[in-house]
Amino acid sequence: MALRRFDLEAGGDSFAFKPETEPTIAFWLGKYPEDKKRSAVIPMLWLAQKDNEGWLSEPAMREVADRLEMPYIRVYEVATFYTMFRLQPVGKHHIQLCGTTPCMLRGANDLKEVCHKAIGKPMSVTDDGRLSWEEVECLGACANAPMVQINDYYYEDLTPESLTEILGKLQNGAEVKPGTFVDRLNSAPEGGATSLLEDDLYDGSRNAISELPNLPKDAPADPAPQAIAVPKAAAPTNTKREDGKTTLIKDSKPAPKAEDKPETVEVAAGEEDDLKRIKGIGPVNEKALNELGIYKFSQIAAWTPANVDWVEDFMSFPGRIEREDWIAQAKTLSTGDETEFSKRVDAGEVESSKEEGDD
Ligand code: FES
Repeated sequence: MALRRFDLEAGGDSFAFKPETEPTIAFWLGKYPEDKKRSAVIPMLWLAQKDNEGWLSEPAMREVADRLEMPYIRVYEVATFYTMFRLQPVGKHHIQLCGTTPCMLRGANDLKEVCHKAIGKPMSVTDDGRLSWEEVECLGACANAPMVQINDYYYEDLTPESLTEILGKLQNGAEVKPGTFVDRLNSAPEGGATSLLEDDLYDGSRNAISELPNLPKDAPADPAPQAIAVPKAAAPTNTKREDGKTTLIKDSKPAPKAEDKPETVEVAAGEEDDLKRIKGIGPVNEKALNELGIYKFSQIAAWTPANVDWVEDFMSFPGRIEREDWIAQAKTLSTGDETEFSKRVDAGEVESSKEEGDD
């Protein structure tokens, strides 16, 4: 792998996440226990890159490290390892051109010529700041080779002509719809499907009677090959068939109802319990709970299963409250007793339970 260094000049001295990114950050942090939040380093770097015009400056990486309480070097290691993180400024539309074997055999080298001509050498940015490009390894769309990724979207089955047209439009500020650039649906054959067209493949009638498929042709007459009666196939419960198409119905838990929101209270400053003494609640989750009006162990101890669903849905971490047993912990703490975890918090041994500025 090529050595990748970051551009120390172009990034300035500071970086801040956009305010509208904060809920997404909270979502990702909520997926991990408070003391394992560094597990969110890749999505956090990805969000920082998005908020920094498509590349990671050194201050952006430091901000991610500070948020995750990680040593800076650990974040630099991740950012410099994965080529999805760009370490120097890129154009408004950054083109990642796949040059791996299937795309190369289908004409990727001709597409590279187009990029060289229209943009310049890899990682250079056009004077108007609109375009830049680089060659990358397989992007997993080999069935639609050759292809490029432009920002977040794939442009597939390209020719030098179609790529030239795309780049021209982007440079002129026009939008270009992603997807395939030949007459096919996704990765289906050009011109439409050619096989698996019969309706009885999907309505269950083909399976009304099945015979054992592997019996030898000269099997003795007695006992006769068994015909296996298979009840007429009912539509699988997780699919539905409409207009000749079978679609998957996703399992989904009904959304919690508004009335399942737990009871909230207002408390005077200093009256609130230290919710971080519950394993699984760190400063971020505590703040979110306080903003909801949850300040006391006794409130959490009284949550019903519906309340738990509501809070997990609100904080985007399904199953976590039960997994971490918040309610049992809260019941113990609300009586003035301690848990093994709360003892460690009280002794200052749990880094992730300390407030910013704590020792
Ligand atoms: S080889 Fe180009 S997408 Fe896989």
